[in-house]
Amino acid sequence: MAQIIDGKGLAQKIRKQLSQEVEELVRLGKQPCLAVVLVGDDPASQVYVNNKKRSCQEVGIESKEFLLPATATQEELLQLIDDLNQDNTVDGILVQLPLPKGLDEQEVIARINPAKDVDGFHPVNVGKLYIGLDTFLPCTPAGIMEMLKEINYDISGKKAVVLGRSNIVGKPIAQLLLQYNATVTICHSRTKNIKEECSQADILVAAVGQSQMVKADWIKPGAVVIDVGINRVDGKLVGDVDYDAAFQVAGWITPVPGGVGPMTIAMLLKNTVKAAKTKIGF
Ligand code: GUN
Repeated sequence: MAQIIDGKGLAQKIRKQLSQEVEELVRLGKQPCLAVVLVGDDPASQVYVNNKKRSCQEVGIESKEFLLPATATQEELLQLIDDLNQDNTVDGILVQLPLPKGLDEQEVIARINPAKDVDGFHPVNVGKLYIGLDTFLPCTPAGIMEMLKEINYDISGKKAVVLGRSNIVGKPIAQLLLQYNATVTICHSRTKNIKEECSQADILVAAVGQSQMVKADWIKPGAVVIDVGINRVDGKLVGDVDYDAAFQVAGWITPVPGGVGPMTIAMLLKNTVKAAKTKIGF
């Protein structure tokens, strides 16, 4: 039976620590501020953005919300980014993805001042991660690394398998695991023998968005299983891992909800505080 990695509890601990850091910054006259940009009315994105705003409030970070209609043009969105780049009160800029069809996501991301890119999606920050320089780590991968740290897991020399190759999760978590000396395999929709690949993993990260795709017999006994999936099935949130069965085989497992999700938001707050600190030369 697996031990549960309590992302919700760990995120709470991190938020508490961040509140103290924010208090200190406020004393120095620098309240961190996150600008959250939401384009269109995707209900899931609205939920994520509201969670982010609420979490900011909880630790004393100011959040400013910018809502644009789904009909907004690329130029309008780029103008907003330019304004936020210029705005000295704004430390971090987050553009909720995905953007509505017709908008060029990569152009928008590249327009954000890398020093305000708290998502870690700007090509400069992606490049820094790739070559091992200090940067804003993308929030979900950063949260996963914090969870591995929390259980004192020694990554070095272990075999890690990442399911999914997105820019937001799959690619950056593979980079980070590599940096910590894991032997990393990235599996995706064209991978042959996915089950066999997964069953060799000491660390298995599932980030494909396919509900309960990872079955118990895909998991090496004792492995650490990190479930990034958030899938809505019959009104219930389920991960990419068949949790109940996997729980019997894994050594460690993250629940959905209450695992990776809260950690992602905690890391966004951490990056925002980092941006504010860097600005005042802390
Ligand atoms: N959409 C899904 N995950 C994320 C994220 O981490 N950041 C942003 N901006 N959009 C997302």
